[in-house]
Parts: sequence; C-alpha cells; structure tokens
Amino acid sequence: MALLFAVGVILALANFYQTVAARTTEEFYISNWYILGATVWGIVLTVVTYLPGYQNGMGETIIQGYYMHMGVGMWFMTFTLGLMYYFLPMSLNKPIYSYSLGVLAFWTQLLFYSLIGTHHYIFSPLPWWLQTIAIVFSVGMIIPVLAGTINFLMTFKGGRKRVGDSYSLPFMLLGVLFYFVGSFQGSLQALRYTNLVWHFTDFNVAHSHITMYGIVAFMLWGCIYTLAPRLQGREPRQALVGVHFWFALVGLLGYAMSLMIGGTLKGMSWMAGEPFMQSVVLMAPYWLWRAIGGTFMLLAHFVFFYNLVDMLRPRKPAPAPPVTTPEPRPHEILESV
Ligand code: HEM
Ligand code: HEM
Repeated sequence: MALLFAVGVILALANFYQTVAARTTEEFYISNWYILGATVWGIVLTVVTYLPGYQNGMGETIIQGYYMHMGVGMWFMTFTLGLMYYFLPMSLNKPIYSYSLGVLAFWTQLLFYSLIGTHHYIFSPLPWWLQTIAIVFSVGMIIPVLAGTINFLMTFKGGRKRVGDSYSLPFMLLGVLFYFVGSFQGSLQALRYTNLVWHFTDFNVAHSHITMYGIVAFMLWGCIYTLAPRLQGREPRQALVGVHFWFALVGLLGYAMSLMIGGTLKGMSWMAGEPFMQSVVLMAPYWLWRAIGGTFMLLAHFVFFYNLVDMLRPRKPAPAPPVTTPEPRPHEILESV
C-alpha cells in the first residue's frame, strides 16, 4: 500500500511540477507552492518512515512522532491550504488579500511544522532537549497559522452578504476559524503543564476532530461545493446544503466540546490520584454527548453524499430545435427572379 501511495504521489508531483514549469509568467501563485510542497513532503515522509535500518528503540518512537505530525501537517493540512488559496478567491470572485502573507505562512510552516513530531511524546524517555525543541516549535506554529488566518479573513472582508448566499463560503469560513482555534489549541497542548493534564485523555480526540474534521473536511467541502456545480451546471438544493452544514457543525461542536470538558476532568482525576475506574465512570455522560454529536456528523455525510450525486448527475440533453425551412438567402432570391 505504501508503495502504491508513493507511486501515486510521485506521479502527481511530476504532473504538478510540469504544469508549473510550463507557465508563461515569472511568478507562480501560492496555491502551487502549497500543492507542490505537500507532494514533496508527502514523498519525504513516506521515504523517511518506511526506510528500515535506523528505526530501533527510541529512534522508532521519534520517527513515529515525525510521521504522525508530518502526515497531518505537511500532507493533509498543506494540500488543503493550497486548495483554499485557489478556491476561496474563486468563490468570492476577488484576489487573495496578500500574496506576501501567503508566502510567509508557507516558509514558516516548513520551518516549524516539520520539527514538532516529538510533542506527541512529552515526558517520555526521549531526550529532554528534543522535547523542548518540539514544544518551542509548536508555539512557533502560531506565526504561520496567524498569517494564514489573517490572509483568509481579510479576503472575506466586505463579502458578508456573499457568505450568506453561497453554498461554499460558509464551509470555508468555518474551516478558517477552526484552523485558528484547532492549531492554537495544539500549541497549548504541547506545553508541559497542559500535556500533563491532557495527554492520554479524550481531549486529544477532540483536537484530532477539530483539526481533521473542522479544518480539513470543512475546507474540502467548501472547495467541492465551489467546483461540483460548475461541472454539470447543476446547483445543489440550498436547503439541503444548509442541513449538511448545520448537522456537521452542531455535531462537531457537540462531539468536541464534550470530549474537551470530559478529557480535562479525566486528566485532573488522574493527577489527583483517584482510582482509574472513577475517571471511566465520570466520562459516561460526555461519551453520550460524543455519540449524539457523532450521529449528527454521520447524518450530515449522508446529506452531503446526496448533494454530491445531485450536482454530478448528467444534465438531460436539451430538446432539439424544431426543423424549419431555412430562409432563402438574398442571392438565392435574386437568382429565382
Ligand atoms: C498547527 C499547530 C498544531 C499544533 C502545535 C498541534 C499540537 C498537537 C499536540 C501537542 C498533540 C499531541 C497531544 C498529546 O498526545 O498529548 C497533537 C495531536 C494531534 N494533532 Fe495536532 N497540532 C496542531 C495542528 C494540527 C492539525 C492542523 C491537525 C490536522 C489536520 C492535527 C491533528 C492532530 C491529530 C490527529 C492528533 C492526535 C494524534 C494521536 O493519535 O495521538 N493537529 N497535536
Ligand atoms: C461521523 C463522523 C465521525 C465520527 C463519529 C468519528 C468518531 C471517532 C471516534 C469515536 C474515534 C475514536 C476515539 C477514541 O479513541 O476514543 C475517532 C478517532 C479518530 N478520527 Fe474520527 N470520527 C468521524 C469522522 C472523522 C473524520 C472525517 C476524520 C478525518 C478527516 C477523523 C479523524 C480521526 C482521527 C485522526 C482519529 C484518531 C484520534 C486520536 O487518536 O487522537 N474522524 N473518530
């Protein structure tokens, strides 16, 4: 599977690279930076993590942390940001607020994100200095996240009415807000004290979904609702897009908020030295809310599937125009006289 994935990403990179290389302008747009970056880092990550030889003992743990965070940060997140830099201006029909902020976010993401994998193993036997680097760079992630958030929000500026009328923009706006909240939450989780409370608890599962679901899935839905209606010229039903949006949002909030509260209480119970079973019992109502939120998320997916199929249905061919005898041309009239 890994080999197939690697072949797929290499072919995609070759395709993207050739497209960029054949451009006629000197500069190339931020989307391309991100999409090329994601494919290059996707390949680096696959090679580093699958090469045998140096992955023994603690080395294996370090590589595992690197893999986890490169996977979410340099593959999923980077690719999705590349798509956002393309589809957001397209949906708003105006250029991105700042090209320079986009490039700053790109390079600082490369600097900080690729060195934070060890924040998954705070207080583990891994070298203390490596953990400290991961913590410092996790806090450094605030720079690219803030640059990206400001760039997207400033692009939205003045478009409030358009957001209300659009299928795609509400998803993108929520994705941007979760991008800030989820990433900032990650920076907080990496600190030693907070990690003491939250590590091993359901708080992490809340973070995983605020990011993978709130950011990546919401942004991708925004991009799909921009592109799909243009393919067959079919718009989805506004009310059903609304159902998809609200079910996904309310479900995610129910899922994540309950796990954040329950996870914090669980961590505090462990720190107070209470019996483990007590922490399991105290989670029961929060897991119930997780299940209710999760059910709404699942229902949202069915509605999205229906909307997608509806948008991609081929259009019925237009009825053929009635056959009429063509009007005689001027020279034909002259010839017949
Ligand atoms: C950008 C700043 C971010 C920082 C500083 C950060 C930080 C962290 C930290 C410290 C943990 C581990 C907590 C622990 O185990 O105690 C974690 C877990 C996780 N993060 Fe983030 N995060 C960030 C963004 C993201 C994004 C954008 C995604 C997804 C697109 C993401 C997905 C995840 C996932 C899936 C886990 C759980 C991994 C596991 O199974 O243990 N994070 N993050
Ligand atoms: C109907 C929607 C979804 C529901 C109900 C759901 C539910 C769950 C549950 C119950 C877990 C296990 C949590 C645990 O270990 O206690 C989980 C883990 C996870 N899910 Fe989801 N999920 C959904 C959608 C997604 C999507 C769309 C993504 C990614 C885009 C995602 C990413 C993850 C990740 C990364 C983990 C591992 C978390 C960790 O180890 O911290 N989930 N999910």
